[in-house]
Amino acid sequence: MGPGDLEKILSKLPVETSPRLLSRIDQGEDAGVFLLKDNLAIVQTLDFFPPMVDDPFTFGEIAAANALSDIYAMGATPVTAMNIVGFPCSLDMEILEEILKGGCGKVHEAGAVMLGGHTVDDEEPKYGLSVTGTIDPVDIKTVGGALERDIIVLTKPIGTGILTTSIKAEFITESEIADAIESMRTLNRKASEILFSHDVHACTDVTGFGLIGHLHDILKAGGVSCELWAGKVPLFEHTLEMASMGMMPGGLYRNRKFIGHWETRGEDVDPLLLECLYDPQTSGGLLAALPRKGAQDTLEELRKGPCPEAQAIGVITKGPEPFVTIQQECATQ
Ligand code: CO
Ligand code: CO
Repeated sequence: MGPGDLEKILSKLPVETSPRLLSRIDQGEDAGVFLLKDNLAIVQTLDFFPPMVDDPFTFGEIAAANALSDIYAMGATPVTAMNIVGFPCSLDMEILEEILKGGCGKVHEAGAVMLGGHTVDDEEPKYGLSVTGTIDPVDIKTVGGALERDIIVLTKPIGTGILTTSIKAEFITESEIADAIESMRTLNRKASEILFSHDVHACTDVTGFGLIGHLHDILKAGGVSCELWAGKVPLFEHTLEMASMGMMPGGLYRNRKFIGHWETRGEDVDPLLLECLYDPQTSGGLLAALPRKGAQDTLEELRKGPCPEAQAIGVITKGPEPFVTIQQECATQ
């Protein structure tokens, strides 16, 4: 669902007041955090969706990597997972087996244990995980905490919503977007390990609300604004080309409708590139605000390691209004 509709419904639910609840659902946190004892909290999250690629094993891997991502965005360690499955009983059961094998492989790669799950008969296949992680409460990284002059770093390119829409419309083949598929099935584990071995003020992962939607969460929670350098945002190959053919997913327009009034832009910003900034991502990268001092070292380490396309894409500016000012290129640095 789009961010607007969801926010309306969530605001009508009773507010949880347990003193052991360490996360706030109204702040765009990636996962719920609950204190078990002094130096131990559990971090819980849940994600599932319909296939975005044809190959069932790859779909399983992507859905699992996406679900695990919210644990990594908070700096926690995944420990257990459970499958959530919708599957048409009329379909070949080998397809389901492949989906589950793909998911299970990613859970093991994350060093976690698959505990079980639940499957229902459904018209359209859907797959995902609920994941539980652990963390020492002092180490929790939240979406809040960004400070003026922080550098905004993104660890993976964007464009997966536009590209998977293009696959469904048969405008492009899976082999032509192999790099985006590889990225979606890549865990944010190593990126998280590198980021959090340095000083990080705020972090989240880029998923359904698009780059600007999740960036806006960081701004809102931190009481800051930002300048975003559109020309620096890494895009998967063919993203602009497919966007120029109108291959935008519905979620892109929903994101833009909800967040768009917080955005201003320079006249030179490429309008197609602007659309891409709202593209809903599957298993996107980590988005973090780093103190300026040391940001370049962290970026280099990410690039040399698990995230060759990691990029500094903007700078945090004075708040308190969560405005995103988009420029084609960096003007102040
Ligand atoms: Co998230
Ligand atoms: Co999520």
